[in-house]
Amino acid sequence: MGKKYFDDSWDFRDSDTKIFTHCFHSYPAMMIPQIAGRLLDKYGKKASLLFDPYCGLGTSLVEANLRGINAIGTDLNPLARLIAKSKATPIDAESLDMWIRRYNDFLLNLDFGKNNGDLPIPHFMNIDFWFDKRIQKTLAAIKGFISQIDNNDIANFFKVAFSETVRESSWTKNGEFKLVRMTEEQRDRFNPNVYGIMNAKLNRNKNGLTEFNKEISKKAITSIYDFNTVEIIPQNIIRENSINIIITSPPYGDSRTTVAYGQYSRLSSQWLGFPNANSVDKLLMGGRPKGLQTISGSKLVKKIIDEVASKDSERAQDVISFYIDYQKSITNISKIIKKGGHACYVVGNRKVKGIILPTDEITRQLFEAEGFEHIETIMRNIPNKRMPSKNSPSNIPGVQDTTICNEFIVIMKKLKVKPK
Ligand SMILES: C[S@@+](CC[C@H](N)C(=O)[O-])C[C@H]1O[C@@H](n2cnc3c(N)ncnc32)[C@H](O)[C@@H]1O
Repeated sequence: MGKKYFDDSWDFRDSDTKIFTHCFHSYPAMMIPQIAGRLLDKYGKKASLLFDPYCGLGTSLVEANLRGINAIGTDLNPLARLIAKSKATPIDAESLDMWIRRYNDFLLNLDFGKNNGDLPIPHFMNIDFWFDKRIQKTLAAIKGFISQIDNNDIANFFKVAFSETVRESSWTKNGEFKLVRMTEEQRDRFNPNVYGIMNAKLNRNKNGLTEFNKEISKKAITSIYDFNTVEIIPQNIIRENSINIIITSPPYGDSRTTVAYGQYSRLSSQWLGFPNANSVDKLLMGGRPKGLQTISGSKLVKKIIDEVASKDSERAQDVISFYIDYQKSITNISKIIKKGGHACYVVGNRKVKGIILPTDEITRQLFEAEGFEHIETIMRNIPNKRMPSKNSPSNIPGVQDTTICNEFIVIMKKLKVKPK
């Protein structure tokens, strides 16, 4: 077994984590680009293909492309896919400038209450609960403009800025992952400048894109999909024994009791017209309860499930549902990695009912069961990851506990191809 050690040079405390297109959009529990970059420099020097099975906003995909490495990502959240794709897509500066000029002209000519000012507002449940009527009109106008953009990459670039604009113009409280509505008093005071927000996002993202365009010298491409590695990895997308390196940060647990990615993305997804905007969280890892059972690949899982079950059998079911999916995903992922290739998993060990779930050790055991060797586990502090550092592990509202404030980078290497 390799070493497990603490190394605070992986904290990247003073680094700018919003370089290149990494500035595009916020998201819960994002990986910082410096980690993906350093892992690629350490373990992916000769890599030509990276895969991220939980790609989120595509941090590791962008870092791979910046090093001339092709990348494949998958995520079940359509908003994450849109943003990841946009972040990894160079756009011709002149065409983008032209569309930004057209957008500014469009704003100057808008005339609410007359012809072009009243564009259709999407119908979705609770729209009036989350958005003031005036804001709805303004967002509908921006959306109407975006629908005229005939260049897909540029339309996506605008949609990414629009998505953050939607979030920041809504009555959701800042700093929450779940959708929490502002109080009446806060709503009364809330008067966002929607066009100003959109313009600020467009400008910031354009600067990030300009830096990305300059750096992308070799033509590396990213492809994004929506397959679920828990179920299948389509052979026509990724062949067995073809991936050099995986760099990923899987979810910490099921969305309901950890980070609700679907809920975080819901309002933007509804405005953008994505299907299943309401049901993403149920589709994610551990989203469907599976009853109390155990898994074969890790002795530790059995031990911790017993411990949690002795305190609360319902919570034990949440935990096991997650690890069952996690094991299936690792089994499938193991097959597509080349012999000698690496799996780099950035994980957090959360607490349930006061019991620490050692996901780093479980990850190691599950990969070892698939013929991988443990190279090392690096422990780091999380100074700048957008995470709820307090949550309610007991699931009792108001009862908080410090949860993940450090994380584990588990490095595994494929030793042999498993016989079928
Ligand atoms: C920790 S986030 C990844 C963040 C990413 N590393 C980044 O920097 O943006 C985990 C992601 O896993 C996705 N996810 C959860 N279960 C999934 C599954 N079964 N298949 C694919 N994606 C899944 C969530 O939608 C979320 O975007």
